[in-house]
Amino acid sequence: MNHAELRQWFYSQLTAFYAQGELQSIYHWCVAELEDWNRAEAYMHSADLVAEAHLNRWKETTKRLKKHEPIQYIFGKAQFMELELYVDAAVLIPRPETEELVQLVLDHETSDVLKVLDIGTGSGCIPLALKAARPNWRISACDVSPVALEVASKNAKALNLDVKLFQTDIREALHQVDFDVIVSNPPYIPVDRAESLEANVLDFEPHIALFGPAHDPFYFFTRIAEIAEKAGISKVYFETHATETALLCKQLKEVWTGEVCFENDISGKERFVILCRA
Ligand SMILES: C[S@@+](CC[C@H](N)C(=O)[O-])C[C@H]1O[C@@H](n2cnc3c(N)ncnc32)[C@H](O)[C@@H]1O
Repeated sequence: MNHAELRQWFYSQLTAFYAQGELQSIYHWCVAELEDWNRAEAYMHSADLVAEAHLNRWKETTKRLKKHEPIQYIFGKAQFMELELYVDAAVLIPRPETEELVQLVLDHETSDVLKVLDIGTGSGCIPLALKAARPNWRISACDVSPVALEVASKNAKALNLDVKLFQTDIREALHQVDFDVIVSNPPYIPVDRAESLEANVLDFEPHIALFGPAHDPFYFFTRIAEIAEKAGISKVYFETHATETALLCKQLKEVWTGEVCFENDISGKERFVILCRA
């Protein structure tokens, strides 16, 4: 089989599972990972025979894609801002909205010296991107999940970025609170909306990273606001589900004595909530 035939076979296998545009970018991602070719090179090599070992990897990858396994987990990589991060099923795949959250913090926080805590760090995408952009900031990050912290630590080492990581369950306590700013993209999907999620999210991404408690989908926001209020933190930046933001702000005003406002994401959704001292 040559590469032109392989391409045809790949599309025929997956066309029922993915939209055309998405399948095209998945194909080019596979070509880059499995052959180490860019688009032009893939075209130039169309008539070359596919090596046996490579063919097996293509088949294995296709099998996993048919099950809707996210390609980031298959290849163990995700791009986040300027960073290439290692990801596996222990962590949420960083989303473009979270890149916007990081940019929001960078735009608002102009001080050269700042102590920042990211709560629920997952892959470490937020603190690592902040540290890469502001090397003088002192950045810490926590998560309840030891396996997520292993991923974040692996990323910090690979990128040579100094971020302090620690394990804590913020439902119980947060003892280290000497920070100016808290950032968080906490679990915020109401469990009763689980069925609305795509299979690639629901079947593969860690549920501890996705869902807020059934009794109160705003739980983590309120809990973090309480911690920040008690510790005298000056600012908190949240990424939210972007639904019922007004209700969330109202609930936060019950525990935060300062100002509560929100900002839209690039699609015009009320995505980010900011708490600041009045
Ligand atoms: C939506 S994910 C965000 C991950 C990463 N910050 C990102 O934006 O891709 C939420 C994270 O919160 C963590 N988490 C869930 N419950 C927690 C708790 N009780 N205390 C601390 N972290 C928690 C999860 O393990 C997960 O990594």
